[in-house]
Order: sequence, then C-alpha cells, then structure tokens
Amino acid sequence: MIQLCIIESLKEIDMNANVQMKAIRYNTYGAPEAVLEMVHISKPEPLAGQIRIKVRAAGVNPSDWKRMEGQYKDFEEVVFPSGIGVEASGVVDAVGAGVASVSVGDAVFGYGNDTMAEYAILSHWVKKPEGVPFEVAGAIPVASETAWRCLDDLNANPGSTILVSGAAGGIGSAVVQLARRRGLQVIGTAGAGNQEYLHELGAIPTTYGDGLKERVKKLAPNGIAGALDIAGSGNIPELIDIVGDPSKVVSVADFSAVEYGARFSAGPPRHIQHVLSEVANLYAKGLYQLHIQAVFPLKETARAQAISSQKKMRGKLVIVVD
Ligand SMILES: NC(=O)c1ccc[n+]([C@@H]2O[C@H](COP(=O)([O-])OP(=O)(O)OC[C@H]3O[C@@H](n4cnc5c(N)ncnc54)[C@H](OP(=O)(O)O)[C@@H]3O)[C@@H](O)[C@H]2O)c1
Repeated sequence: MIQLCIIESLKEIDMNANVQMKAIRYNTYGAPEAVLEMVHISKPEPLAGQIRIKVRAAGVNPSDWKRMEGQYKDFEEVVFPSGIGVEASGVVDAVGAGVASVSVGDAVFGYGNDTMAEYAILSHWVKKPEGVPFEVAGAIPVASETAWRCLDDLNANPGSTILVSGAAGGIGSAVVQLARRRGLQVIGTAGAGNQEYLHELGAIPTTYGDGLKERVKKLAPNGIAGALDIAGSGNIPELIDIVGDPSKVVSVADFSAVEYGARFSAGPPRHIQHVLSEVANLYAKGLYQLHIQAVFPLKETARAQAISSQKKMRGKLVIVVD
C-alpha cells in the first residue's frame, strides 16, 4: 500500500514537471533588481495561429525595463503578475490551430510574450537558418524590425548621408548596417569606447555632445539628408538644426519629437517575416554582424535588465535558457 502511494506521488511530480516551467515575473512596477523574480508556473498554451517554443535565447530590450518601471503606464497598463520579454529563439514544442508553416521540432525565432521563461508563445516567427546561432536569432527581431522601419520612414535617397544618433546599441548597430546596404553613407554617434566598433559596422564615427554640428559639417560637407534619433538623449532640436528640416528627422525613442515637427516611428512591427528572414540570411552569409555584449542565464535576468537600463550597450544582451 505504502509503495503504491509513493509511486502515485512520484507520477504526480513527474506530471507537474511536464506542465510546470521556470519563468521570470514581476508583481509591481519597479526597477529590475527590485521586482523581478523566478517562479514556477504552468506552461502557456498556444491559441489559434500561435506556437509554443522551448526557449533557447531571448533578447533584452529597453522596452522590457521601461514597461516594468511604469514608463508606459499612461498608454499601456501592465496586468500583474507580468512576464517579461518580447523576442526569442527556440524549438517548436506545440502549435495552435491553423498553424501549418512549422512543426514540432523546428528551430524558429520571432516575436512573442513573456519570452524570459523556459517556454513561451510566439505570435510571429520565421524558421532559423542553420548558420545562425540561437543566441543571435533570439536578439534579431526588435532591433532589426525597428531599424528597417525607421529607415523606411526616413526614406533617404541612396548615395546621400544620414546621421544616426546612438549608433552603437541594439537598434543603432542594425540601422548602420541596413542603411549601408541601402547605399547610404552613415555618420554614427557613440561614446569614445565605441568609435572603432562603429567604424567596423560601416559608419563614419563621431562622438555625441557639444560641437556635434561642427563635427558633422566637417565629415559631410555636402550636408545631411536626414537624421535618426535612436538614443532618445533629448537632442531633437540639435538634429533638426543639423539637417535643416524637421520632417527629415525621425525618432524611435523620444516622444517629444513631434512637438518640434519631427516624426516618431512607432510599432506595430511591419513586414515581419520579410525583415527577419532577410537579416538572418545576411547573418548566415557573413554579411551582417550582431554583436552580443553578454549572455546571462535565466536566473540572472534582473541583472541583465539592470545593465540594459544603464544605456551603455554595444549591440545586445541575451538571456540563454538551458
Ligand atoms: N519606436 C519603436 O518602435 C522602438 C522599438 C524598439 C526600441 N525603441 C527604443 O529605442 C531606443 C534604443 O533602443 P536600443 O535597443 O538600441 O537601446 P540600447 O541598445 O540600450 O542603446 C544604448 C546605446 O545608446 C548609446 N547612447 C547612450 N547615450 C547616448 C547619447 N547621448 N547619444 C548617442 N548615443 C547614446 C550608447 O552608446 P555609448 O555606450 O557609446 O554611449 C549605447 O550604445 C530605446 O529608447 C528603446 O526603448 C523604440
């Protein structure tokens, strides 16, 4: 009898192991290291048109900690307890009704919800080319789609020169490379330690801060066709002054841009499948770099988010899940 009970309990533990997973959650607004915790919760179930993946890697984005700190509260209330993470790579583990493009076992990457967990739901995805490591694939979606979209919005002519304010972070690194592929010259700003990195990406590097207009004038005596504000460092008036036309300044990070007559490029993501496939294939062919500054295990998600919030990134931070 006792033996039977033990066998039943062991079976229960085993079944729980099949439905439970580790995930990062927060229950109140606050800074990453104050509010994030690892919990055990049920695996999410994919709805129609969704897939569930066993997560291998999830890119860290400033929107993760901005949402967590309540910076988006005015237009997007967080429902607690909340997960964290909007992009990931992994292996398909379950498919929702109507999904025919992938099967269980396929390696994919894309956009999803609460991706800093052992399992996550993706709503948009593409298959991962073999030549792209999971760590890289999990960090492609947000940066490359945002870069692609804001370059579309700027719509500068091939052969012209653009200025990218904040060119060394996740989005900036993607903007520089995709702009070069569109035949644009790029002057990129970054701190002193990232000048050589920008040069490697294909930009003409310069520092931000006092005297930017004079430095840019020296580097581009024929003028600047447009500017992208990626850093959101509060210099929209300076960028307008450099370009000479507010409609040729596009920000992804400073909501006040529109007050000056400049434009703000916002989601939802556009042409997702196309952009993700293009960028992953460029990477696989050695024509695109995605610099990963550091990788962290799932249990160190709070530390990774805290580092991201210091805004001193070169490329991306990535959470890896074993
Ligand atoms: N609108 C949208 O659709 C959208 C989508 C995604 C993200 N975003 C926003 O876009 C912004 C950038 O995201 P991200 O992932 O690229 O961030 P990130 O990787 O954290 O970018 C940090 C970078 O900013 C640079 N930086 C810091 N201060 C600067 C300054 N004063 N001037 C120029 N560069 C400066 C840093 O360069 P140094 O270390 O060399 O100083 C670092 O390379 C965030 O605000 C994010 O919320 C918007």
